[in-house]
This record gives sequence, structure tokens and C-alpha cells, in this order.
Amino acid sequence: MLRRSGVALSGASPSAAPMLRPLSQRSENRGALTLSDRAEALQPSLTLAIAARAKALKADGKDICSLSAGEPDFDTPAFIRRAAADALEAGHTRYGPAAGEPALREAIAAKLSRENQLPTRSEQVLVTNGGKQALYNLFQVLLGPGDELLLPSPYWLSYPEIAQLAGASVRVIPSSAAEGFRLDPQRLEAAIGPNSKLLVLNSPSNPTGMVSSLAELEAIAAVLRRHPHLAVVCDDIYEFLLAPGHQHHCLAAVAPDLAERVFSVNGFAKGWAMTGWRIGWLAGNTEVVNAAIALQSQSTSNVCSFAQFGALAAISGPRDCVQAMAEQFNQRRRLLSDGLQAIAGLTLMPPEGAFYAFPDISSTGLDSMTICRRLLDEQGLAVVPGVAFGDDGCIRLSCAASEATINDGLQRLERFISGL
Ligand SMILES: Cc1ncc(COP(=O)(O)O)c(C=O)c1O
Repeated sequence: MLRRSGVALSGASPSAAPMLRPLSQRSENRGALTLSDRAEALQPSLTLAIAARAKALKADGKDICSLSAGEPDFDTPAFIRRAAADALEAGHTRYGPAAGEPALREAIAAKLSRENQLPTRSEQVLVTNGGKQALYNLFQVLLGPGDELLLPSPYWLSYPEIAQLAGASVRVIPSSAAEGFRLDPQRLEAAIGPNSKLLVLNSPSNPTGMVSSLAELEAIAAVLRRHPHLAVVCDDIYEFLLAPGHQHHCLAAVAPDLAERVFSVNGFAKGWAMTGWRIGWLAGNTEVVNAAIALQSQSTSNVCSFAQFGALAAISGPRDCVQAMAEQFNQRRRLLSDGLQAIAGLTLMPPEGAFYAFPDISSTGLDSMTICRRLLDEQGLAVVPGVAFGDDGCIRLSCAASEATINDGLQRLERFISGL
């Protein structure tokens, strides 16, 4: 059983709910509009901010090359767009169940059971506004003040913010480019404390492109068996984007005895080029998923009804479109990887999946923010500072761009580094 956390409404029964005080009386500074501590502490997404600044500079007529994108540059396949348009015409325009369209929950459960060897029933699936809301909901229902998120670094930049929004603290477990950015089981075990409640695993990883091997997951499972209070969330959003020779494995399939405390988060954004559709899912332990459904029912309600029918077509349809895009990303990843390895002064752990590369730039003596600012100002190249991902010695480049753009970006980076 997973312990429930959170702050009880002490002494308040539903019939004796406290009266809401007007805003002006809630802060010490009466009459002034103040933000909550939660909002004050929140950092806006740096990746979205950089992409937006690059776009704005380009719109101003500047010669900008952006390798900062976190989304496929392909259109959503036509049969998926058509399914959503048909659903719209057929009148799927009203509120639906907060947990998602039953047929889509069923199809996701079938995919997890069949393709990922995770026996899953549809009640264990919640359809969310992208993988991001799946993580948000899960963190909200599992984590509270006093709880700790264990976060292997480098990490996707939203995890710590989402954990802090839930009131939890974050303990980072570092790894370096020299170690291939892999999670060391001994370091994991040393980081686990009595308040550690949830561990994040993200494979293929954003930003490093590291893919966890079967042996690595088995070693992590062995540690988890010794710490039954620790749950795990596997963020599998880049599942289909794998370099040749690499395979995606699910922890709960490798260690079925841990399935009750392993959650899977995934979505349609990266594999099917559906970033703007905002559809993802959370799957796992029924009690926890039910709590996440309740949370969603009181916050955003159902994901856009007709968009879910597009997602249903995607997950039930042929996968050749997914494979074709993944193959394009393989070629571009190789191009980016080879190009970076050819630049003197950079060290690269060649990415094994996703669509990023995360070279170590520490030999330049500059921090990642300075490098990125100067790259944009001096070379018109937009990339993302590693500090946003917990590693100030690296920068993140995306290969979700045309081969011409990748080549252009590599030349600008080479010019900058050689000019230092
Ligand atoms: C590692 C990781 N997880 C989750 C997400 C969220 O994806 P979605 O667009 O489905 O919310 C992203 C998006 O960039 C990501 O990189």
C-alpha cells in the first residue's frame, strides 16, 4: 500500500468547511495583491523561453538558426488529423469522462499490455493533457511537504518545478558525461532516505539521449526491492525514438514484482508528432490513478473530446508513420553527433535515443548560460544551457530540425568555439 501524504483539513468536516476570506485579508500586506509562495518559487520553462526568443529574433529579420526545439518538425500524420476532424463533425464536442474516452483508455491499456509487457486494465489509465499533466497529477497525489523526489541528473527541467509545486523537496543524484549519464545503482541507494517517496526514470532521456539497458534496469530493481517505500515513475515519452542497436525496456516489465509502485507516463507528442494536441497518459496502481482522476476532475476535466479520437486512431493505427519519423531522427541524430564529435574542445556521450545531444563544454571555461547567450548574440545560434537540466558544464542541442539547419548550427558552433 502506498502511504497517502498531504495535509489534512484538520478538524474541518465537509459541513464545517472554513469560510473563504477575501483576498485582501489573506496576506499580511492587506490590500496588496500578492502571489502565493508556490507561484513565487516557480521558474518558467527556459526551453520554451529560448525557443520563443529565437522565433522573435527571426521575425525581426535576424539570421537565426535554432537547435533548441523540443518537438518534432513533422506534421501529425493525415489519418490522425482526419479521425479528429471526423469526430468533431460527428459531434464529439461536449464534456466527456474526466478520466478519458473509454475507447482510448482501453486502447492505451492494450498497447501497454501487448507492446510493453505491462498487464494493464483500462481503469488503470488516465488520459491527460500531455505527459506533463500526467506527471503533474501524479506528483500532486503522491508528494507533499516532507516528501522527497529522487531525481537523476541531468534531468528534464520540469520535474523539479512540478515536485516543488506539490510541496516536496528534490534530491538530485548526479551523473556525468564521462559516465555516459547513467544512473549508478550504488549512488541511487546512498541517496534513498526515509522521506524519499518517488524516483524519476526517463529513458530515452531528455536532455542526454541516454537509454537504460536491461541490465541497468535489473540493477535498479534490485535496489528498489530493498526500499519498499519508494515508488518510481518511468517517463517513456521518447519510447519510439531509439538509435540503432538500442531497445526500450519498461521497469515494471523487467521487475513485475514492483509493478504496484511503478507508474508509467507517456504521450502522443514525440512519437506521433502531436505536440499541440496535448494528449498523454498516466498508468499504474489503481488507487493512485483514481486519486489522479479525482484531481483532474476538479482541475481541467477531460482532455479535448475530439482530439482524443485522433489519439485513438494513432494508437490503434499502423505504425509505419512513427517508424518513418524515427528513422529520420536517427539520420539527423547521427549527423549532429558526428558533427559535435568533430569539434575540438567538446566531449560528447553519443545520444542513444530521443532527439537531443548534450555535449560537455566545460573545457571552454564558460558556464552554460554565458555560452548560450553568446552563441545567440554572436552567431545567431539558439541552444539550451545545461544549467536548466542540472548540469552547467553542458549545452543541449536538438536535432528536431532539417539536415540543412543542423549543418548550419554545427558550423556556427564550430566558429564560436574555435574563436574563443
Ligand atoms: C522528458 C519529457 N517528459 C515529458 C514531456 C512532456 O510532454 P508532453 O508534450 O506530452 O506534455 C516532455 C516534453 O518535452 C519531455 O521532454
